[in-house]
Amino acid sequence: MIGIIGAMDEEVEILLKEIELERKENKAMMEFNCGTLWGQKAVVVRSGIGKVNAAVCAQILVDDFNADYIINVGIAGGIGENINPGDIVIADNLVQHDMDTAAFGDKLGQIPRLDTFDFKCSTELVEKAQAACKKHLASKSFLGRIVTGDQFVADLTKIKWLKDEFDALACEMEGGSIAQVCYLNNVPFVVIRSISDNANTGAHMDYEKFKYIAVNNSVNILRGMLENM
Ligand code: ADE
Repeated sequence: MIGIIGAMDEEVEILLKEIELERKENKAMMEFNCGTLWGQKAVVVRSGIGKVNAAVCAQILVDDFNADYIINVGIAGGIGENINPGDIVIADNLVQHDMDTAAFGDKLGQIPRLDTFDFKCSTELVEKAQAACKKHLASKSFLGRIVTGDQFVADLTKIKWLKDEFDALACEMEGGSIAQVCYLNNVPFVVIRSISDNANTGAHMDYEKFKYIAVNNSVNILRGMLENM
């Protein structure tokens, strides 16, 4: 079974139209939609926004639905001049940019006392996502680090910092916590995001303008992946 998490209604509505629904279950104020999506047994769920919602959701997928894989799809702010709305960023690893125990000598983003700095995505799932991009994507795709924090980034200084400190390609608000839950439970995962804005001062306006294009792109990549699994 593949657990598929989107944070917002907009990010899962196409998936909910497409899934051949077998049953629904409610937990932690989330609706888990179980069925077959593009040939694969799947549970599609809207987690809600932010790291706590996403972590709770991922843990339920592991504990109560026996997820073999978890895929997080949705939109993100692009970091870097050549990443534009509509482009896809596939994470090969994720870091939580708002974790800060530097006072104890830790690197920013390091979760204290955990034996890893970043959370690495499944190579198998990354390759499948890349293959789907080759086949189905008109815009560009990138592979690299996505950073996560409980913050909608709309600030040039902050983006520069995310780039300099973490060498990040995109920022969003859930992927890194889903990644941590998957790491703790040894469940393979991947995060696929399409860019809705450039996390700058106009980010909230670009976000409204491009979010549906971006959602469509990330859903198309997911579709390509599932059809090829
Ligand atoms: N998701 C989409 N755009 C974002 C941004 N600029 N910051 C955080 N999450 C986002």
